[in-house]
Amino acid sequence: MPHLESDPAFHLVGNTPMVPLHRLFANNKGIEVFAKLEYYNPSGSVKDRIVVHILRDAEKTGKLRPGMTVVEASSGNTGAALAFFCARLGYKLILTTMTKVSEEKKNHMRMLGAEVIVCPTDVHHDSPEHYINRAAQIARETPNSFHVNQYDNPLNTEAHYLTTGPEIWRQMDGRVDWLVTGGSTGGTITGAAKYLKEQNPALKVLLPDPKGSALYHIAKTGVSREEDLGPYQVEGVGKECLTDAIDITVVDESMQYSDADAFGLCRACARLEGILPGLSAGGNLAGVQWLMDRIPGPARIVTIVQDAGVKYLSKLLKD
Ligand SMILES: Cc1ncc(COP(=O)(O)O)c(C=O)c1O
Repeated sequence: MPHLESDPAFHLVGNTPMVPLHRLFANNKGIEVFAKLEYYNPSGSVKDRIVVHILRDAEKTGKLRPGMTVVEASSGNTGAALAFFCARLGYKLILTTMTKVSEEKKNHMRMLGAEVIVCPTDVHHDSPEHYINRAAQIARETPNSFHVNQYDNPLNTEAHYLTTGPEIWRQMDGRVDWLVTGGSTGGTITGAAKYLKEQNPALKVLLPDPKGSALYHIAKTGVSREEDLGPYQVEGVGKECLTDAIDITVVDESMQYSDADAFGLCRACARLEGILPGLSAGGNLAGVQWLMDRIPGPARIVTIVQDAGVKYLSKLLKD
């Protein structure tokens, strides 16, 4: 059975392009906006980075051995990344996800051979039916299983500290003032921000958060409020509470956006830049717009396009 490091696809992860957005945001303050296109990773999202880091470690430490079953909860991208590598390496894979996740993402995971268990979206995060708790239960009950647990796994954050952060620094020639990106596990924002702040302590971080998630208020005040929680259509970002993977102290500013803001910016970015971002990246662009109205120029802003809008066409094509 092949192992991860011997798979040529392992070397396709990371080193994604950084492109300037020229037309989407009008400004006369000398603010430049750059987008890191994570959909160039082999399974189509930023999550390939954490999956190779976690699987490689698990194989090296013997936590994952031939014949075992990998188990994880995912809003679709970690799931697709795991399905891609598990198919190639011969591991069985069981994923839990939520009803609200786009049909494209659910079917992508299924096509790559994963067993996909769809859990209800609108349940309390303590409920055994919640997709994260369900995955933990499946992992406990499945003999010979390896639970990835991206939410509480320090290797998630470390993957971004070791790859996403350094790539941004290099691609920006060490000149970057703001990082704008949303969070779910918080691995991306925490790992990349830590690295970038070590290089430039003046760098600031904005976390755009969908309305209905608790992270905005937690970033502002340190506490989460049940009354902030509600449904939203954007996928893969926002949370009801903090995971172990996020260090919210890396966040300097936070703002809230609506589904309409995110969807609108996905569509506008496609028409004006030729780039169709995924829904959470549409939310990031709402954050960039909010920031540009508030900061003086000149400034250089980097945002992350975690995946592509083709994963959400069924949602984006509806109003
Ligand atoms: C589309 C999308 N955007 C953003 C994120 C958030 O990334 P992180 O878990 O590193 O906070 C995810 C995570 O699943 C995602 O799938």
